[in-house]
Amino acid sequence: MGHVYVFDHPLIQHKLTYIRDKNTGTKEFRELVEEVSALMAYEITREMPLKEVEVETPVQKATCRVLSGKKLGLVPILRAGLGMVDGILRLIPAAKVGHIGLYRDPETLEPVQYYAKMPSDIGERELIVIDPMLATGGSAAAAIDMIKEMGAKNIKLMCLIAAPEGVERVQQDHPDVDIYVAAVDERLDEKSYIVPGLGDAGDRLFGTR
Ligand code: PRP
Ligand code: URA
Repeated sequence: MGHVYVFDHPLIQHKLTYIRDKNTGTKEFRELVEEVSALMAYEITREMPLKEVEVETPVQKATCRVLSGKKLGLVPILRAGLGMVDGILRLIPAAKVGHIGLYRDPETLEPVQYYAKMPSDIGERELIVIDPMLATGGSAAAAIDMIKEMGAKNIKLMCLIAAPEGVERVQQDHPDVDIYVAAVDERLDEKSYIVPGLGDAGDRLFGTR
């Protein structure tokens, strides 16, 4: 079964509090989501392998380290996942970005697929599926199904806030996928919104309703 890692870094928790606050407007919300996403990317890449290389400093030759191992791919789930992309790319500019279009039907709560475009070397990359909200887990589980069908082998899931139900769903459907979050909240409400959560992530990022 996949592990769940909760990033409790004080900066992440501080910024998440203002993301949750209903008085935070669209501009600030978007900036904070980018900042938290960058901080989470910093944490998620902590174990990345390094290899030694020789460089010549202005003083002398030195043996230093650079990243080795698999290249990264980001897979935002449209539309709210887009809000996390730029913050991560600021730290990892070489990552390729694939897009999965899914929305949760408000009546059935089932994910509806409308788009998929992945890097051609998807099977060789370490992929991070990103979406601010893991509620019932239906969208994340479907997105992971889609990218596995397209050849993805090495997958992590990164969300700002998860409900216990969503964590359980992804762990059941995709035991090979570890989950990285800033918080696991209490529960889902009757409309399957996360409680206390942050409301509708897509609407708050893009100023829609
Ligand atoms: C939200 C969110 C997730 C999904 C989570 O997207 O960004 O993708 O709901 O819910 P689930 O875990 O129950 O599937 P939404 O469907 O509102 O679409 P949007 O990003 O286009 O606003
Ligand atoms: N999608 C959201 O944007 N927020 C929730 O709380 C649940 C699903």
